[in-house]
Amino acid sequence: MKVGMLTGGGDCPGLNAVIRAVVRKGVFHYHDEFVGFLEGWRGLIEDNSMPLDLDAVSGILPRGGTILRTSRTNPSKRPDGLDRCIATIGKHKIDALVAIGGDDTLSVAQKLHEKGIKVIGVPKTIDNDLGGTDYTFGFDTACNVVCEAIDRVHTTAEAHNRVMVVEVMGRDAGWIALYSGIAGGADVILIPERPFDVDKVAESIRQRHERGRYFSIVVVAEGAKFSSEGSGSPILQDMGKDEFGHAKLGGIANILAREIEKRTGFETRAVVLGHIQRGGSPSAFDRVLATRYGLGAIDMVHREEYGCMAALRSNKIVSIPLKEAIAKNRVVDNEMIQIVDGLFEEIGVKEAAGK
Ligand code: F6P
Repeated sequence: MKVGMLTGGGDCPGLNAVIRAVVRKGVFHYHDEFVGFLEGWRGLIEDNSMPLDLDAVSGILPRGGTILRTSRTNPSKRPDGLDRCIATIGKHKIDALVAIGGDDTLSVAQKLHEKGIKVIGVPKTIDNDLGGTDYTFGFDTACNVVCEAIDRVHTTAEAHNRVMVVEVMGRDAGWIALYSGIAGGADVILIPERPFDVDKVAESIRQRHERGRYFSIVVVAEGAKFSSEGSGSPILQDMGKDEFGHAKLGGIANILAREIEKRTGFETRAVVLGHIQRGGSPSAFDRVLATRYGLGAIDMVHREEYGCMAALRSNKIVSIPLKEAIAKNRVVDNEMIQIVDGLFEEIGVKEAAGK
């Protein structure tokens, strides 16, 4: 078969491991031929591609980013975008397309599937919030990066008697904040799922310091919201939106640090980890997970499970409808919040919630 492949949306460590696994199994076991479309859906709209053979995927397993590069191009927002994608697929005589991406990329895959294109999805998002799958690759690496950063911030916080507020990725879901906050021993974890009361956060820090501690670590997801802001809107970097309608988040750590310092009188600093979380080499866990997704995806191509996505469920790679995966984000649920709250004496993920 001739199989096309693309990576769309924000990058994350492990994309190259998926590409490598798809190509290796496709070539070794199915005698497939591959074409890589460059920069997400833009590659199909503009007919920009590269051959993907064993040589092209050699040595890419430990590399971050994606050899196919990526973009947040939305064909539905471009004149004749979807039709141009279909025309390029026809021109290259592509039998099946493997789309590696998050809910935005996969929603385009679903649209193309509805127009008769044979598409298989592979779940990707650093935020770990794609529906239908237990984990997405890249998340583990991000948590390791953040955990190391928190460890480093700990020592300087301790040396200076400071409160340090660490801002991490997580637009709608607080998985990175929650996991890395637990792993890094944070004193307060703030996630988008639960708007927080800044007075309660400050009070918990004050009480901790009264108990004899003289520094604190707060981990906050970029999409976390102040409950006092009324509408519960996240903090935006600017008013611009990408082609899928997402605003650029960021800046909550600086605002929160200021408010904590104002309320407690403790010297407070903000650290924004940003794209450092998405860069660099994937962890061993993510290399294995991404490889398993890739192997699962090429098997699905040959089982003709089109319109489906490879998913991890109970540590098995299974096939689920794309529709199910994109239906809703997998956010941190109450049960998880309650479990984590057991770690905190006065205030935790739950207690910080304004409602
Ligand atoms: O969607 C994943 C994500 O990493 C979010 O956590 C973050 O808000 C966004 O991408 C950043 O996007 P960009 O790379 O376009 O700045």
